Amino acid sequence: MNATLLESHITGYPRRQGKVRDVYDLGDRLVIVASDRISAFDWILPTGIPAKGRLLTAMTEFWLRFLKIPNHLISSRIEEMPAPFQAEADELHGRTMLVRKTKVVPIECVVRGYLAGSGWKEYRASGTVCGQSLPGGIRECEQLPEPIFTPATKAESGHDENISFERMAAEVGSDLAEDLRRRSIEAYRRAAEYARERGIILADTKFEWGRLPSGEVLLIDEVLTPDSSRYWPADSYVVGKNPPSFDKQFVRDWLETCGWDKNSPPPPLPAEVVTRTQEKYLEAFERLTGARAVTEESP
Ligand SMILES: Nc1ncnc2c1ncn2[C@@H]1O[C@H](COP(=O)(O)OP(=O)(O)O)[C@@H](O)[C@H]1O
Ligand SMILES: [Mg+2]
Repeated sequence: MNATLLESHITGYPRRQGKVRDVYDLGDRLVIVASDRISAFDWILPTGIPAKGRLLTAMTEFWLRFLKIPNHLISSRIEEMPAPFQAEADELHGRTMLVRKTKVVPIECVVRGYLAGSGWKEYRASGTVCGQSLPGGIRECEQLPEPIFTPATKAESGHDENISFERMAAEVGSDLAEDLRRRSIEAYRRAAEYARERGIILADTKFEWGRLPSGEVLLIDEVLTPDSSRYWPADSYVVGKNPPSFDKQFVRDWLETCGWDKNSPPPPLPAEVVTRTQEKYLEAFERLTGARAVTEESP
């Protein structure tokens, strides 16, 4: 069985819903449930992608193990969650993480090794990204001489806004800003190097960091998943052309041509688009981790 989980319903804890994850507050810890929701063009689609939440959870775990930097994960074993979560083990296993609750640093720590998306748009308009000047003549999706740190605000709704490093420093303090810039670039470099060996380009990614009451800084949230990163298959990469994204390509292509105006709730996805998208998430997972994914409902 391979049912789609659009939403979890655990009672007894305050729940906050993000675009993709349901976050339950246990006081000093959180339980994060990765649903199968998928978003595109800033809308959550009415159709989920079966097992997507499991694949993204497994990828986050994989990268946390790979990076070995202090992070929020306590356990992803359903047996170690509070009883109300265990009671829904069939639905929740493999997509649920028990983590230390932190005070989130309110900045998206984006690192770009290639120039695409909003970075490319700003560069084309002004020769800068987040206010930093870059050498002239860089083409769309071209690799940068060095990875750059391009912070953004965490907008409560709508689009995140790219900001300068100086503005980040003014908001969180320059010591923390410099520390997070260094840690984020280092984590990007190591992950990009590993992915490249497996035929995948990690064009850019977004990290989130949080602080414990003791002041200790932890890597939080999802880590290096296709939802927080831009992955391209290396074999179809050509400088000057925007490569197909690893995961949402079919969804975006279909939404562009189905007649939807992007200003009203989006239509359901056809089964074909769902299947092909699920295959892409599976492929990304298997190529990056070298493991076969377990996507069934029962352990
Ligand atoms: N360890 C943590 N402590 C506090 N908040 C966290 C932690 N890990 C993740 N979060 C928050 O949980 C939420 C995850 O849900 P998500 O679906 O990604 O939401 P969003 O739509 O805001 O991206 C994010 O707001 C993220 O900042
Ligand atoms: Mg998020």
